Amino acid sequence: MTQKNNQKYIRVCEPYITQKEIDAVSRAIKEGNISSTAKYVGLFEKAFAKKFGVKYAVAVNSGGSALFLALWALGIKKGDEIIVPTFTMVATANAVVQCGAKPVFVDCEENGNIDVKKIEEKITKKTKAIIPVHIYGHPCDMDEIMAIAKKHKLFVIEDTAEAHGALYKNKLAGTFGDMGCFSFYANKVMTTGEGGMIITNNAALYKKLIKLKAYYFHDKRHFWHEQQAWNLRMSALEASLGLAQLERLNELVSLRRENARYYTDKLQGLKDYLVFPSEKKGAKSVFWMYGLVLKKGNRDKLMKFLEKNGVETRTYFFPMNWQPIYKETEPYPVADRLGRNGLYLPSSSHLTKAEKDRIIGLVKKFFKA
Ligand SMILES: Cc1ncc(COP(=O)(O)O)c(C=O)c1O
Repeated sequence: MTQKNNQKYIRVCEPYITQKEIDAVSRAIKEGNISSTAKYVGLFEKAFAKKFGVKYAVAVNSGGSALFLALWALGIKKGDEIIVPTFTMVATANAVVQCGAKPVFVDCEENGNIDVKKIEEKITKKTKAIIPVHIYGHPCDMDEIMAIAKKHKLFVIEDTAEAHGALYKNKLAGTFGDMGCFSFYANKVMTTGEGGMIITNNAALYKKLIKLKAYYFHDKRHFWHEQQAWNLRMSALEASLGLAQLERLNELVSLRRENARYYTDKLQGLKDYLVFPSEKKGAKSVFWMYGLVLKKGNRDKLMKFLEKNGVETRTYFFPMNWQPIYKETEPYPVADRLGRNGLYLPSSSHLTKAEKDRIIGLVKKFFKA
């Protein structure tokens, strides 16, 4: 436990690991079931597919790998354009570039999700796919996105890295498009330390994914390779941790939702200063991170104040159009504003009431000072 000012330092997000996870990983180690071919990877994939009600799940070594592999399996290449929200984590855009294609950015709505009204103006003859990102755990407007994709004959890959268990009209995020990609990085709603998963109902894509994630070994002649491919596999150590976390997914989501309910309720007195995260009609967010956008006051000063008092926070994503590697002069007004004024508060599933009260007290003190 880190101490600051004699109080526990509250990290922005920590994994919630119980004895169940420790037992699962220990068992895998004791059995020697640790590689990507050991049984726990297959078991995790099966359990994940079942939980999400899809035919196939393919475990990989990160969320970024999941996105790259999904695009690669679709044959995305140089000259293709992919619609990507500018307000996202860099992995979404980088996966596109890794395939040789160009990410074409679209602004977001107030909740950070891609603004569906602004997608069609960015579609050209070169556009091959849309990657909606369910930002901070809130599902995107999937009916509208799927309708646009159908009209223009585009693939949809859902970046569900932040939204395990989120629902859009009672259907799980990640199950709408051709593929859904998940991250299990340590701060995610459920974790394997590092890791990712792709889900799909498409048998042909599934076959490609499993070949492309593992050096494209030939089915019959083992060391025979008909295509370039790398090792993007998940280990059974990660998968055994994932199996235990998956069994607890509903609990982890409930805790995250309870954090959000509590923060929003107790911070209502500051509604002239802050925009709270909310849920659109028909959406059930998992509130992966509890984000606030400042209407008044200085975001960076608030973050410094909280840090000085032992509370870690993070800025919202810096939009892709700001990044040195993607810099554009075109304004993306909503993403630009969120990038300047947004932050998230500590959001671990197992944050205690006392910790939340301490954070809330500090936020109130900052604005009332
Ligand atoms: C929206 C989004 N996409 C992709 C990723 C990449 O996942 P990973 O860190 O597992 O590569 C992240 C992760 O942080 C993310 O937030």
